[in-house]
Amino acid sequence: MDSEVVHVPAEWRAQHPHGAHLTGMLEYRALYEESIRSPNTFWAKQARELLSFSHGFHTTHIGSLAKGNNAWFLGGELNASFCCVDRHAIADPDRVAIIHEPDDSCDASREITYGDLLGHVSRLAGCLRAQGVQKGDIVTIYMPMIPEAIFAMLACARIGAVHSVVFAGFSADALRDRIQDANSKVVITTDEGRRGGKAIPTKAVVDTAVRDCPCVSTVLTFKHTGGDVSWTAGRDMWCDEELKKYPSYISSEPMHSEDYLFLLYTSGSTGKPKGVLHSTAGYLLGAAMTGKYVFDIHPKDRFFCSGDIGWITGHTYTVYAPLVLGCTTVIFEGTPAYPSFTRYWEVISKHAATHFYTAPTALRLLKSKIKKRDVEEFNMSQLRVLGSVGEPIAPDTWKWFYNSMGDQKMTLTDTYWQTETGSHIVASLAGVTPMKPGCASLPCFGIDLAIIDPVSGEELKGNLVVGVLAIKQPWPSMARTIKGNHDRYMDTYFNVYKGYYFTGDGAYRDQDGYIWIRGRVDDVVNVSGHRISTSEIESSLLEHAETAIIGVPDELTGEAINAVVSLKTPVIPLGIEQELILHIRQSIAPFAAPKKVFIVKDLPKTRSGKIVRRILRKLLTGEKEFGDISTVRCSSPKNEKCQPLILRL
Ligand code: WTA
Repeated sequence: MDSEVVHVPAEWRAQHPHGAHLTGMLEYRALYEESIRSPNTFWAKQARELLSFSHGFHTTHIGSLAKGNNAWFLGGELNASFCCVDRHAIADPDRVAIIHEPDDSCDASREITYGDLLGHVSRLAGCLRAQGVQKGDIVTIYMPMIPEAIFAMLACARIGAVHSVVFAGFSADALRDRIQDANSKVVITTDEGRRGGKAIPTKAVVDTAVRDCPCVSTVLTFKHTGGDVSWTAGRDMWCDEELKKYPSYISSEPMHSEDYLFLLYTSGSTGKPKGVLHSTAGYLLGAAMTGKYVFDIHPKDRFFCSGDIGWITGHTYTVYAPLVLGCTTVIFEGTPAYPSFTRYWEVISKHAATHFYTAPTALRLLKSKIKKRDVEEFNMSQLRVLGSVGEPIAPDTWKWFYNSMGDQKMTLTDTYWQTETGSHIVASLAGVTPMKPGCASLPCFGIDLAIIDPVSGEELKGNLVVGVLAIKQPWPSMARTIKGNHDRYMDTYFNVYKGYYFTGDGAYRDQDGYIWIRGRVDDVVNVSGHRISTSEIESSLLEHAETAIIGVPDELTGEAINAVVSLKTPVIPLGIEQELILHIRQSIAPFAAPKKVFIVKDLPKTRSGKIVRRILRKLLTGEKEFGDISTVRCSSPKNEKCQPLILRL
């Protein structure tokens, strides 16, 4: 393990335009101790400072991890759209809330002030209400990275509806399942999106998806590219015309702290994606507090997070953290590779971004393509904080990011968290924590970590321990339930190790108490920072084949999906590998498609019929040692050791 320490550069503090929020590690440690020793006092103070309640809360917290019944800020009333829009629009209407950078660098970027944002959000909120959307209803959003997507999220919040954003890379089938599960009456989309020079047919995907969704009565479509779309009269509405009917201010609905703000689907270890529900006050507080302390955000900052709003990173750090803290969020519709690999540098310098938060998968790509001289011309002088998220960042990628984009003058924070945790749980604090390349570092405020021995189930105290990562104290931004399946919520997170929240990741605590994340210990694969369950892919192929999906290390995408497939037919049709890949692209999403498909006669199984993935993983990664395979059965006649199982590539 590389345990080199990189100290925050001396000039970082000296040149800080506003003065950092925390003075240093002593303050972090004192505040952290307080957050663990007296969590209710700590969180109540933070909530009052960072959020605006229209009615104060009387109880900070009830519930426990053992019971999975945590609730925060009881009696309190607030509205997320008020916290993210109105209070800044009132104080400083001309401050820029959103900067949109289009896919193509030749197209104009757009700026939306907080004053204008209030108008956009109010009008759309009025329109949603007119379509019959009521408090508690779930509205599905399927949109590219444009300001209207944020208007849509905040418009839902304004009237107390719950938003369910579906990543615009998901297929029509995947979107249909999510709309049905959410029982949405309204879906919001665009004519098209644009990514990497290509049109993304968002409206066409929605059209296909809603064919099987009788619950949907309205599809609201924003005009974005002007591309042709098909139209269903009576159901489809152009937002641009419709919104003119509604006033530019409607008041925000007071919501209870525990009312749900959003639903977001994520993959777990079983086949069906789970709809994770987040609360209003607790979630917003997690976003605001980590934005303030982990990223050291100040109101004049311009925060550029490359995370898509279809994932939790986009929810918390493209939308909610920057807006609740009243700074400017820079949103980018394109990719790091189009029209050239310097696109991120262009966006950062053009919009004078102070923060840049991205994923190791993009960094690995850029590291292989960018030479120092390619990026020398860009003015990165405003940039103060770099951040990484989504998967472990290898020390060499960390150093490349720190040196080439950060010019060794910035602070780089590796942030570990999950859809379910709502906000960061382990991270180095910008400008405060001495950094270790490749290490997520130290727990965030209020996060009481435990490393557990997976065999004995006992907590491993002290340093130099390896096990699975868990949390032993509730925190406000934790997900409250899985939609329609609270038992699954309990079983996945709280019943594995009683009294603890189980993350599903392995971790190591080093000699300094720093946490190194070692990746998932369950059946979840992380491809380019996208989380996907192996069984979800396996079940999508079930009709055609018996499949084992294996995540194998990949230089570019972190992990790559390999499918080992035993067909149900005696003859192997020509081109079957491509057909299976296409099937997965269509039934789930392109990012879930296997990089390689191996057709085998039979899959190695235990005597009780369970596929032995351990052996397949070793075969695919080229490891020679299989361990004990005495109980492995495979019906291939000449083959006892399973090695010649792979018939063709
Ligand atoms: C992984 C993304 C190492 C981890 C925010 C986790 C990370 C899963 C890091 C959650 C990191 C996320 N270092 N691993 N900094 N950040 N992960 O729900 O396996 O899409 O459990 O949330 O990503 O993925 P999710």
